[in-house]
Amino acid sequence: MKPSRLKKNSLALLSATLLLSGNAFSATGNEAGKQLFEKSCADCHSITSNDNITLEQRLKEKAPTLYYAGNKFNREWLQSWLTAPTRIRPGGHFFMDNVKVTDDGDIIDESKLGKHIAVNAEQAKQLTGYLMAQTPKTELIRQEKVTLGKTNRTLGEKDFHKFKGCGSCHQDEDGYGGVSGPELYTSVKRLQPEFIASYTKAPEKWDPKTLMPNRHLNDNSVKKLLNYLSVISQ
Ligand code: HEC
Ligand code: HEC
Repeated sequence: MKPSRLKKNSLALLSATLLLSGNAFSATGNEAGKQLFEKSCADCHSITSNDNITLEQRLKEKAPTLYYAGNKFNREWLQSWLTAPTRIRPGGHFFMDNVKVTDDGDIIDESKLGKHIAVNAEQAKQLTGYLMAQTPKTELIRQEKVTLGKTNRTLGEKDFHKFKGCGSCHQDEDGYGGVSGPELYTSVKRLQPEFIASYTKAPEKWDPKTLMPNRHLNDNSVKKLLNYLSVISQ
């Protein structure tokens, strides 16, 4: 048998294998993930820019935008979370919708917070392929150079709550801290460190209608906060 012939045969075999394993093939093309997303997720999540929506529209959104998912999430976390989602925002996507006024002050009415839809492992893989391919605003990620280091936990905690005020909206421990923003003790597992740095510095560059204020932090302050988030990471 001539070598050229052998090559031809093996190519034919390869395409047959690809055709047979249709699922895996389309997953790499993200087509299956896209279809699944449109069917099961797009009712609540936007996947296109919402830079130009009004604040009123923003407050009516049912779920966080996934527009820049590929520049935000850690792939492994995303794939595994989709099969067994846990709550990330103690007060829901917009906490004011879920607040209950009591004699002890305002608390979150947990009965109003729904359970997130879970998908099977194959679907999670397809959805993750599709979501991780959504990468607008890459220039913001490129501006960040992050190496996670260590820091003193007590000093870091003081900085987080007292000096930088992050703790009025974010938890740095399960059940401890504010409820209007996403929990941050899982942030280093969930999110790309460059995204955390960039969002902490200028959240409005990611989302002009963000509910998080820009605290005008310098690189060194952001670095310290990131080291703390890394030290407390769960
Ligand atoms: C009924 C509305 C609804 C549907 C349908 C839905 N989600 Fe969500 N999703 C939410 C809400 C609300 C949150 C915020 C949950 C939290 O923070 O605890 C969320 C959070 C997420 C997050 C984390 C986002 C972040 O920035 O922290 C991802 C990823 C996600 N959903 C993916 C999906 C995928 C993929 C699907 C389809 C299989 C889907 N969702 C279907 C409402 C929905
Ligand atoms: C006034 C409340 C508030 C303060 C103060 C605040 N944040 Fe936020 N933060 C939010 C909200 C709300 C979000 C979610 C974005 C949204 O819903 O618009 C958010 C999102 C984030 C995210 C993205 C996390 C994710 O899972 O999407 C990071 C990282 C973050 N904040 C870090 C910080 C740090 C660090 C500080 C302190 C310097 C801080 N924030 C101060 C309200 C706040």
